[in-house]
Amino acid sequence: MAEKITLSVIKADVGGYVGHSSIHQNLLDVAKERLSKAKDSGMIVDFHVTRVGDDLELIMTHERGVDNEEIHQLAWNTFVAATEEAKRLKLYGAGQDLLSDAFSGNIKGMGPGVAEMEFVERKSEPVIVFMADKTSPGAWNLPLFKMFADPFNTAGLVIDPTMHEGFNFDVVDVYGHKAITLSCPEEMYDLLMFIGAMRRFMIRRVYRKDGEICAAASTQKLSLIAGRYIGKDDPVLIVRCQSGMPAVGEALEPFAFPHIVEGWMRGSHHGPLMPVPFYEANPSRFDGPPRVIAAGFQITNGHLIGPRDLFDDPSFDRARQLANEIGDYLRTHGPFEPHRLGLDDLEYTTMPQLMKKLEDRFRPE
Ligand code: 13P
Ligand code: 13P
Ligand code: MG
Ligand code: MG
Repeated sequence: MAEKITLSVIKADVGGYVGHSSIHQNLLDVAKERLSKAKDSGMIVDFHVTRVGDDLELIMTHERGVDNEEIHQLAWNTFVAATEEAKRLKLYGAGQDLLSDAFSGNIKGMGPGVAEMEFVERKSEPVIVFMADKTSPGAWNLPLFKMFADPFNTAGLVIDPTMHEGFNFDVVDVYGHKAITLSCPEEMYDLLMFIGAMRRFMIRRVYRKDGEICAAASTQKLSLIAGRYIGKDDPVLIVRCQSGMPAVGEALEPFAFPHIVEGWMRGSHHGPLMPVPFYEANPSRFDGPPRVIAAGFQITNGHLIGPRDLFDDPSFDRARQLANEIGDYLRTHGPFEPHRLGLDDLEYTTMPQLMKKLEDRFRPE
């Protein structure tokens, strides 16, 4: 087996059941069948198919590196096949995230969300794949900062000499089409200035100072690709754990605080990000509140041993309860900000149409 292994997490909403609340078993079955064949043929080493809310998640290991055309094509074809089944069942928004008719070499920019990393498997390789629904990629900024830069969250930053040096954060400006790498703890305040504005600046990757990759997040924004609102870019995140990286519990700890993210109802409202076990990842109330699941794996000779359902733990009950309370509070605002997103975010919804319709009725003031 080659020295390096690639972990690719590629996701798309190809049809909701019922509405946007969950996924139909047939779509999971279609995806499993496709990836099974790819595994048998040796194209991928291993895979796990799952879902959060209405998002179909393909977790794959292989030896082809990141941005590999065949792997992206495999994911694309899998989503197309699942879409066919979604159309047959007339599931809601069938093919929602597939913005193109034909695959064009790299699945990024075509609708699906992608998080990938390549590394040499360590003596033991625990990883967590976080997957969220009814939110958007900026949702990972706060938890990633806490995991890799906040000593009140991650004891290892203080206690573990191999973490003491801190981490580098690769931040992308999704509107400016630029990226910057900032080093923590030295440039922590600079970093926070950017990533606190999570609509625009997103942590894409985190590296140890020796260059070892620790985390990779999807940063695809559907509205920016499509130029209009067509559903939210529900994101994924991979975090490697232990031995010079955050312990599993340190990577989970930020989610004990259900922070406010965008993406609830019609992608147009703020709500708390609720950490849930797999079986509770069905956002129903007002199509939410936003959910996150955590699938833990040991990667062993490229194989995915797992998943363990890491939020299936009563120690996250309080976070869920708080999320419900915050949900009640925000819902009481109805169509008012800050429950509803600000105007900039509504640009891609029906706001421009409404403006156009009422254009003539605006008087100078
Ligand atoms: P163990 O002693 O169970 O290996 O735990 C070590 C640790 O770092 C837990 O956070
Ligand atoms: P999804 O982005 O999960 O499809 O949700 C869209 C929506 O409008 C929910 O109200
Ligand atoms: Mg949907
Ligand atoms: Mg979704």
